[in-house]
Formats: sequence, C-alpha cells, structure tokens
Amino acid sequence: MSEQKSSNQMWGGRFASGPDAIMEEINASIGFDKKLYSQDIRGSLAHAAMLAEKQIITMDDLNQITQGLNQILTEIENGEFTFSRRLEDIHMNIEARLAELIGEPAGRLHTARSRNDQVALDFRLWVKEEFEKTANALKNLIAAFLERAEEHSNTVMPGFTHLQTAQPVTFGHHCMAYVEMFGRDLSRVRDAIERMNESPLGAAALAGTGFPIDRHMTAEALGFKEPTRNSIDSVSDRDYALEFLSVASICAIHLSRLAEEIVIWSTSQFRFIRLSDAFSTGSSIMPQKKNPDAAELVRAKTGRINGSLISLLTVMKGLPLAYSKDMQEDKEAVFDAAETLELCLAAMSGMVRDMQINQDAMKLAAGSGYSTATDLADWLVRELGMPFREAHHVTGRAVALAEEKQLDLAQLSLAEIQSIHPDITDAVFDYLTVEKSVKSRQSFGGTAPHEVQRQITYWKERLKKA
Ligand code: ARG
Repeated sequence: MSEQKSSNQMWGGRFASGPDAIMEEINASIGFDKKLYSQDIRGSLAHAAMLAEKQIITMDDLNQITQGLNQILTEIENGEFTFSRRLEDIHMNIEARLAELIGEPAGRLHTARSRNDQVALDFRLWVKEEFEKTANALKNLIAAFLERAEEHSNTVMPGFTHLQTAQPVTFGHHCMAYVEMFGRDLSRVRDAIERMNESPLGAAALAGTGFPIDRHMTAEALGFKEPTRNSIDSVSDRDYALEFLSVASICAIHLSRLAEEIVIWSTSQFRFIRLSDAFSTGSSIMPQKKNPDAAELVRAKTGRINGSLISLLTVMKGLPLAYSKDMQEDKEAVFDAAETLELCLAAMSGMVRDMQINQDAMKLAAGSGYSTATDLADWLVRELGMPFREAHHVTGRAVALAEEKQLDLAQLSLAEIQSIHPDITDAVFDYLTVEKSVKSRQSFGGTAPHEVQRQITYWKERLKKA
C-alpha cells in the first residue's frame, strides 16, 4: 500500500492516480471530436440502412437503431448528453449510449465497420461542409469588393511597387485585384471538394469486409459522388484535411495582405480610408486615436492558420500505411483553422463594406511622386517616334529638373520642359494628369475605368456560377 502510494505520488498533480489517468488523458479525443457528433450519427444511420437493405441486420434492428440514434442526436443538441472521457471518443460515446437505449441491436451497428473508416468518414463530412462554408464566405467578400469597385471605378489613387508611388491606378482596379485573389481561393475550394468527394465508409479497419455491403449505396446516401477505391488508402488518407489547411493558409495570406493595406491606408500619413467604428477601437490614453484592431488581428491570425498546416503536415509525415493513432491529432488543427478563417473572412467583408474612401487624399497622393513620368516617356515614344529607352532617359532628366525646382511634372513651364528636349510641345501637359494617365491604360486587365468596368461585369457573371 505504501509502495503503491509513493509510486503514485511520482506521477504527481493531475495524474496522481497513476498510469490509468495518464493513458486516459493522452488517449481520449472526446474533448474535441464531439464536434463530429452529427456527422457520426448521419454515417451510422446510412450504414445501418445499408446493412438492413443487404439483410445483414433485420428491419427490426434497423428501426431500433434509427430511433436510438435520433434520440441521441436530440440529446446532444439539447445539451442533455453526458460525454465520458473513459469512452475515449465520439464514436464510442454514441455507441455506448445506443446500447443503453436499445440493448442488443446496438451491438450489430458496428458490423462491417471499424472506427478507422468511421472517423475517416466523419472527418471528411465535416471538412466538406466547412469547405462549403468557406466558399460562401469568400463569395460574400468578393461581392463586397465588387460593390466597392463599381462605386470607385473612376476614383484615382497611387499604384505602388516597393510601396513607392509607381503609376496612378483606380481604387476600383485595386479592389478588383483582391477579387482575383479571393476568386482563386474560391476555385481552390471547389477543386478540393471535387477531389475529396468520395466515401471511405466500408473500408472497415483497412482491408474491406467479408460482409456483402453496398458501398455505393452509403456513398450516395451521404452525398458523395462515389466510394473510395482502395480500402487501405481510405483509412490512411488525410489529404482533404491538408488541402483544407493549404487553401486556408493561402487565403489567410491574402487576407493578411489586405489587412496590412487597411492598416497603412488608415494612418494619418495616408488617410486613404476611414474605418467604421464597428471595426476599430479608441485608445485609452490618446483621444485622437482610432486603431485598426480588427485588421491587425486578421493579419496576426494568419500565424495560427499557417501553424495548423505545418502541424498536420508534420503529424502525417512518415506515417506508415494504414491507420495510426497519430492521425487522431488531425482534428484540432483543422477545427481551429476553420473557425479562425471563418471569423477573418467575416471581419474583412465587414471592413470592406463599411470603410469610407477618402477620394481627395487618394487623388492628391496619386499625383505626387512623379507618378505620371511613364506617361511622359510614352508620349515621347508616340508623338516624337523616340525609342523607349531614350524616352526613359529624357523623362529622367525632366523628373530631376522638377525635383530640383520642387514642382510636379505638370507644373513645369513649356520652356523648362523644352530645355530637356526642344521638340516637346504643350500638348504633352494633357497627358500628365492622373485622370488622363489612368484613362490611357486600356490594355486588357489595365486600370482604365471602362476596362475595370469590364472586369467587374465579368466577375458578377462568374460569381453567380461559382
Ligand atoms: N478517435 C480515433 C481518431 O480520431 C478514432 C479511430 C480509432 N481507431 C483505432 N484503431 N484506435 O483517430
């Protein structure tokens, strides 16, 4: 007794009761996989219906199993179900309760099935639903950008490279760049759903089963295109979860770039936008401040989502076929990333819809930093037949002169600009305004307002089918 006690004390703290408690703690997944209760019950209902159809269980068994499972669903949804860690996971918790409710027939439900194909099915169903939610959230964000783009297809702002003023663009065009990014995320979601749309149920432990099951029937009942083709792969595959995390990570990176721009644009140095009170906070000490907290948090949460991807990649790395318990560690990373991404997409849609655009500040900035220098060079090429390389040098000298005089290009006098090159006429000044500059860039995908409008029309149509 005293020896028992002293060895127990070695475990210490929460594990004072020894190896059993440690094993229960490390082994149990119910703390997080209870999230899969509705998928688990749906899978069991489809499995039982198929077993009855194939006369592996009786109709009477099926009726009792169905009733019992439906009652359990209600109990869980009403918060009346007692989850037990001793029963390890959601599958065994539900099965044990079913046995309490209906007795012997409960024991027949697991015929021709293993927890290995059961968990593979449940998690697939969950991830597939989450992909659909992500698709809707992305569509919502894209729609928000389309509205802002339409409203601002004529609003000029500086376009940047290296975060240095490069050439004037429109705010609508800038918004449409995000439409393209989130549009690619949406198409990645669709591709991934297509690839994962196969049911692993019936793979059993890993080798399939000797019972005359119908995997096509359960696949169809559960909304999958078809059953998976290889039972070993079916229980060892977590690619769909990895793809969810990859898609989520790329999307999170896009969101972080947008978040960063929102942070920059809302500074008093830029003043391009004003965030709504709903998505910003004040400072407890500096009354003038309006902080872009929501954008900053979206920027930061990218870390969690990317971390989840690395975490699951590392769990899966080097695992031998087929199932290993390691794979129980697949869920929390995906649950956390999914919840985080959903929140970030919602916050960003709100910010994009609500933010006020300061057109004057954008326009002022658009004209600074010699943003129309390329337009001068293009004019020299077009009107004077100058090779572009030479036009680039001439323009460089004009910019240097303007800089020396602390003027914009358009503020130079004709005499001053002719001192750079005698053939330049005052027609050039027409091309040095930001509006003219923007309007001239009519190439496919360019920033000219009517070209941006064409992009908007294209996406409105595409979004209906996306
Ligand atoms: N809780 C387990 C998981 O999430 C279920 C599968 C258990 N399978 C087994 N052979 N122990 O992976």
